[in-house]
Amino acid sequence: MRSTPARWTAQRLTGPDGGDLLPPAMPSAQATARANVNVALVKYWGKRDPALNLPATGSISLTLDQLSVEADVAFGGGSEDRLEIEGAPAEGEEAQRLVRFLDVVRGEAGSAARATVATRSTVPRAAGLASSAAAFAALALAASRAAGLRLEPPALSALARRGSGSAARSIFGGFVEWRRGERTDGRDSVAEPLAAAGDWDLRMVVAMTTRAPKSVSSRDGMARAAASPLYPAWVAGAEADLAEARAAIRARDLEALGTIAEHSALKMHAIGLAARPPLLYWRGATVECVHRVWALRAGGTAAFVTIDAGPQVKVLCGPADAARVAAALETVPGVERVLACAPGTGAEVLG
Ligand code: PMV
Repeated sequence: MRSTPARWTAQRLTGPDGGDLLPPAMPSAQATARANVNVALVKYWGKRDPALNLPATGSISLTLDQLSVEADVAFGGGSEDRLEIEGAPAEGEEAQRLVRFLDVVRGEAGSAARATVATRSTVPRAAGLASSAAAFAALALAASRAAGLRLEPPALSALARRGSGSAARSIFGGFVEWRRGERTDGRDSVAEPLAAAGDWDLRMVVAMTTRAPKSVSSRDGMARAAASPLYPAWVAGAEADLAEARAAIRARDLEALGTIAEHSALKMHAIGLAARPPLLYWRGATVECVHRVWALRAGGTAAFVTIDAGPQVKVLCGPADAARVAAALETVPGVERVLACAPGTGAEVLG
């Protein structure tokens, strides 16, 4: 096993997209890291550069506890990458995506070494929650360490972004903003923390519905959305939405944050409805969950929905209301399980 990158020169002291990079202290050829999932409050929906995963707009998210992915990466030996997800060999498009990501890491490290990768997830199988954000954040950390790179958080965020856009945010805990950036090379399109997990105790109650037939991937959904007549309005409103969310987080104002989060999510899904062909991620249970939350709100509970590229509903509320929100969602036909998550921490090296 090779334990150092093949090349390491002063010219390579920048990470992916030019972020800061520290010289390798004690390069090791293997590493394990863990990262939590995050849920966007102001959504990322549309790319200005699909190859580099550069977003058309900025986004703001909350990293959650309990739902995480662990990744082991070892470089060296073998003529091809050996990839395992949840104990089974990765296949097809999933495998290709992992290899493409490892190629980015190899490019940065100046190495051609093949990798052995294994990922494990605590995200329940029926959750229907995209765990790619947690997976690529954990992989970015583990693979860069294993390749002997010591990336500063912004460079790590840029690397995670190459695997999955939203993974850029899972490098950090708590409330996180991923900046759109202006540069064509993506150097300035990285996430940064707005408030740590312990700074504001909120809950995100996740209603897991029966797994629906495989729906449209977020990549394909974004491509379709870009052709929607409503898409220009989405881009035009992004800065105002981000400013509103930032101010709400600064003020620890749940009502204000929930209001803009719900608006951002519903606006994102409205773009799909207006697209040709149309795009609708919701199932019956999704709609019913939204109505249950609105009924709670009419009764005075500060609870707000957000929905990603799937049928699951996530509800932002205060800790004291989480049990009431969970009880309201559990009885919706089609909801299999409800989980109340607190703010979670950022990606960490386990070994
Ligand atoms: O990171 P991707 O390519 O899986 O896209 C994520 C898209 C949404 O989850 C719908 C929104 C977001 O900001 O996370």
